[in-house]
Amino acid sequence: MKKHYFTLLLLVLFELHMMSAILAKPLGAPGILSRRDLLSGSYYYKTCPAAEEIIFRKMKAWFRKDYTLAASIIRLHFHDCAVRGCDASILLNYQNSERRAYASRTLRGFQVIDDIKAKLERYCPKTVSCADILTAAARDATSLLGGPFWEAPLGRRDGKTSVAKEADLVPQGRENATALIKFFQERGLNILDLVVLSGAHTIGRSSCHSFQHRLANYKGTGGPDPTLDRLYWRNLTQSCKRSSNFVNLDATTPKTFDTEYYKNLGKKKGLLSTDQELYSDPRTAPFVSTFANQLPDLFYNQFAVSMVKLANVKVPTPPNESEIRLNCNYVNPAPRKKVNPPRRG
Ligand SMILES: *[C@@H]1O[C@H](CO)[C@@H](O)[C@H](O)[C@H]1NC(C)=O
Ligand SMILES: *[C@@H]1O[C@H](CO)[C@@H](O)[C@H](O)[C@H]1NC(C)=O
Ligand SMILES: *[C@@H]1O[C@H](CO)[C@@H](O)[C@H](O)[C@H]1NC(C)=O
Repeated sequence: MKKHYFTLLLLVLFELHMMSAILAKPLGAPGILSRRDLLSGSYYYKTCPAAEEIIFRKMKAWFRKDYTLAASIIRLHFHDCAVRGCDASILLNYQNSERRAYASRTLRGFQVIDDIKAKLERYCPKTVSCADILTAAARDATSLLGGPFWEAPLGRRDGKTSVAKEADLVPQGRENATALIKFFQERGLNILDLVVLSGAHTIGRSSCHSFQHRLANYKGTGGPDPTLDRLYWRNLTQSCKRSSNFVNLDATTPKTFDTEYYKNLGKKKGLLSTDQELYSDPRTAPFVSTFANQLPDLFYNQFAVSMVKLANVKVPTPPNESEIRLNCNYVNPAPRKKVNPPRRG
């Protein structure tokens, strides 16, 4: 009874925290949508009522073939929203687009979104944006992994601009807590959102390259990172004979969407420095220990809230700079201009 009350209290506090973040949003800066352009839970109700059903069925089929794609889609969605807002700019595929950036080299799941888009174009052509597909797919990926389900507000449009240099600003695993907090705050996301969304590392893998600096001669000390458990370190050294190898982000339950990730941080078993930092930094640590010690429901509820917030990150764009893409990989071809036949003299 007492525990329940405490959980409820925490939730209320978190909501208040969130509200204040929304109200504090500076105008014109990247951030959460204003009330005027709030997305809707029934956006495709008239124009494509089967949209979310189609997305879910496709996600389920891909998940059955390869469950690791679920984590990849959640990550892809984060990389989309973290740069220019959630506008599917990460999906554009040409020289110097975000997708071709160094920080994007281990992103996967593009074929899943293409497959969903192809099907939706048959059912309701030119209607469902690639940005919305990615958001709904990330939500479905979470629930397929055993995590929470939530109503995902839809109605985004796809951007026409994608710049590799901007994608390289997305945290890559070595940043300190201050840099992480700043990166999130610049997008209208607070410290709680940072800790909760990092909880997506309860599933998924990382390439050894992202944490190899922790294994030997850490910061020139000659030894490994002292915040790394000794036995875990030994395992990682074994697994990382090549820096292109992959290791589970959650050392104990890598296939389940649970709170083990937070518990592992308390045992010095965070894989990336950006994970372990959350445990040691006084600004993030209270949230980490709360999620580690409370029932998973607290984490699930807040994960849903922070994912909706993430999906609402928007950068204001003039109407001519967004569209419903026909193919998620490319900006739509410009409408053909009427060309007057050359005059004969
Ligand atoms: C954190 O990283 C930023 C950017 O790399 C750097 O400027 C800052 O000095 C670092 N802060 C600490 C406390 O290490
Ligand atoms: C190291 O790997 C072994 C075998 O995979 C596993 O049983 C053990 O729990 C791991 N130890 C740590 C500290 O992660
Ligand atoms: C949109 O319109 C602005 C101003 O008219 C123009 O500068 C810009 O290039 C246009 N963008 C696109 C993608 O056509």
